[in-house]
Amino acid sequence: MTTATNQLDQKTIDIVKSTVPVLAEHGEAITKRFYEMMFTNHPELLNVFNHANQKQGKQPRALANTVYAAAQYIDNLEAIIPVVKQIAHKHRSLQIKAEQYPIVGKHLLLAIKDVLGDAATDEIIDAWGKAYGVIADVFIQVEREMYEEAAAKAGGWDGFREFNVMKKVRESDVITSFYLHPKDGGPISTFVPGQYISVRLKIEGETYTHIRQYSLSDAPGHDYYRISVKRESDKGSIPDGTVSNFLHEQVNEGDVLHITAPAGDFVLDVESTRPVVLISGGVGLTPLMSMLNTIVKQTPERKVTFIHAAINSATHAMDQHVKGLAQEHENVEYYVCYEKPTEQDRLEKVFDKEGYVDLPWLQSIIKDSNSEFYFCGPVPFMKAINKALKEWNVREEDIHFEFFGPADQLNA
Ligand SMILES: Cc1cc2nc3c(=O)[nH]c(=O)nc-3n(C[C@H](O)[C@H](O)[C@H](O)COP(=O)(O)OP(=O)(O)OC[C@H]3O[C@@H](n4cnc5c(N)ncnc54)[C@H](O)[C@@H]3O)c2cc1C
Ligand code: HEM
Repeated sequence: MTTATNQLDQKTIDIVKSTVPVLAEHGEAITKRFYEMMFTNHPELLNVFNHANQKQGKQPRALANTVYAAAQYIDNLEAIIPVVKQIAHKHRSLQIKAEQYPIVGKHLLLAIKDVLGDAATDEIIDAWGKAYGVIADVFIQVEREMYEEAAAKAGGWDGFREFNVMKKVRESDVITSFYLHPKDGGPISTFVPGQYISVRLKIEGETYTHIRQYSLSDAPGHDYYRISVKRESDKGSIPDGTVSNFLHEQVNEGDVLHITAPAGDFVLDVESTRPVVLISGGVGLTPLMSMLNTIVKQTPERKVTFIHAAINSATHAMDQHVKGLAQEHENVEYYVCYEKPTEQDRLEKVFDKEGYVDLPWLQSIIKDSNSEFYFCGPVPFMKAINKALKEWNVREEDIHFEFFGPADQLNA
């Protein structure tokens, strides 16, 4: 890493650092243009990029921010390794390869030139070309290690592997679980609770494949992986989610799905014995369910509080399962918050709080703020939980979260 950075002369470093603000100012315009040009010249990349994220501008923002953040540390790239690792998990899960980096680099430079016009002198373009090269090398190196590690694990593999859907189980009006068993009958690698796999679909009649991530929703140690998918639809004029609807409607027991080996850095610290609080909103419960199932299996003396927010009982998945765990295991506490309970929910008193999860309620149910907190759900939900935990002075290192889309800012 340091060697790669040393390849840059001081003048290049100075040019890159001094032009970061200009590029950042035009960041979205540049990355928008970058994607337009890249997909025109390399339409095969539409097989890996999420089209809905592109339409909503989420991915362009994520890539732009990372390139500028990395460039600010161009003379100290060690500092960005933690962020690189986070992205590299996603890249590895998507099977992004070293040979694709020059394609991204070339189109990034073309886009910078296109948007900045004469202001992008040859000297500036040359400096950014070199800087991109060393940043890309850091990603490639980190990802190479991850590919090797995933393939070398017992039951591990490289690329996409075929899995049969051995069981499809309806968990609520909107969430369905798929139990996946390797078609080759071989072992499957273990994973750390909180990790996800990528599913690649080729939908008949469509030109490009679609790849999406799904958190593993059961504990490791089985001969199957389980994913639990929410059907993204019913939003009026917004198109239905492609993969989630296809899985719900078209994929049945016996069908084959192509998946990559487990990845991700949102993982339960399984060595810790401290109390843990798992807070989920909607389908965000999946990685936390894996954590809960693991704790009751592996460390049944560890105190765990499982808090779930749903609209009401109709959309609430896996309620009976968690209730059962709370009854059987003294270390498990379970609380439910409904945004809009039905009349039946009220009559049956199947929830503990109405409305949203907030700090006073959290403080009333969690006895020990010296706990480890893990949360996942819609972005506004995650922002609210993050704010509440910060107000409660929970230490940064005890706060862990996962985005079910490109990483976003929780403090914004
Ligand atoms: C690490 C990780 C773990 C995840 N784990 C899970 C999990 O356990 N369970 C789960 O259900 N999901 C999970 N997800 C989310 C999952 O990967 C998919 O994003 C989700 O299933 C939606 O995919 P889709 O193809 O159905 O929707 P897409 O087609 O990708 O669309 C996404 C959303 O955008 C909307 N949309 C589509 N087109 C447009 C447009 N033109 N304009 C505006 N809006 C549009 C759709 O209605 C939908 O709500 C996870 C994501 C990540 C990153
Ligand atoms: C140095 C170069 C690169 C940087 C800085 C970068 C940065 C990022 C970031 C920040 C994300 C979002 C991560 C998240 O989900 O939170 C991402 C996702 C992604 N990256 Fe990269 N990336 C680079 C190179 C590449 C290359 C070479 C490819 C392949 C051509 C690629 C393909 C993707 C895809 C497909 C996604 C997921 C996008 C989606 O689902 O919409 N990236 N990258």
